[in-house]
Amino acid sequence: MKKVMRGKFITFEGPEGGGKTTQARRLVETLEGLGREVIYTREPGGTPTGEAIRGILQYNTAGEPVCPETEVLLFAASRAQLVRHVILPALERGCWVVSDRFADSTTAYQGYGRGFPVESMLTINAFAISEAVPDITFLLDIDIGLGFERLAERHRQTNTAKDRIEQEERAFHERVRQGYLQLAERWPERFRRLDAARSPDEVAAEVWSILEGFTNITG
Ligand code: TMP
Repeated sequence: MKKVMRGKFITFEGPEGGGKTTQARRLVETLEGLGREVIYTREPGGTPTGEAIRGILQYNTAGEPVCPETEVLLFAASRAQLVRHVILPALERGCWVVSDRFADSTTAYQGYGRGFPVESMLTINAFAISEAVPDITFLLDIDIGLGFERLAERHRQTNTAKDRIEQEERAFHERVRQGYLQLAERWPERFRRLDAARSPDEVAAEVWSILEGFTNITG
């Protein structure tokens, strides 16, 4: 039987301010430095359709409030497009994919955060992602107060405003964090929880040592 060449699929997840984007980009640079073919994607977004959806979800670019049910389905729609147009074709040709958020964000934010049934979120995710299940998911876990401080600093530096979901009350974000911790307990083979209160260098070093133990990265 023909062996299917498959790249690795790595996702970064967690509450706001945990440094997911920094870590995902650093990992991509490191892998590229080793000569691996690797792509960075982000959610929502990563395709023209997904980026249009991102505008609606984050800044109400359609000009009307997004109801919670629509929010779930738009995140899933962006994901379905990203999986079929970018992630699966890349994995199938042996390219590695590093994604800044993925399906676990819907379970954590819309399931645990908004209060939709978690099992329904998992069903919707399964439909959206097909066989694109991450090989490993780094949960950058952070105290919500500290995450908010980092977020505020970033918005100050970049002169940007909090988006629609970042503006949710603290209790919402606490539920999201607890939700992520439950997901990590439910799928311990896939999830690695990292203490994201540490410096980016320390977190990146742990990401790398976990990956080295997990797969023959340099081979
Ligand atoms: P970020 O990529 O800058 O963190 O912004 C994405 C925002 O969207 C963030 O607040 C988390 C939220 N989100 C969800 O609520 N559900 C999802 O499925 C995804 C991918 C993101």
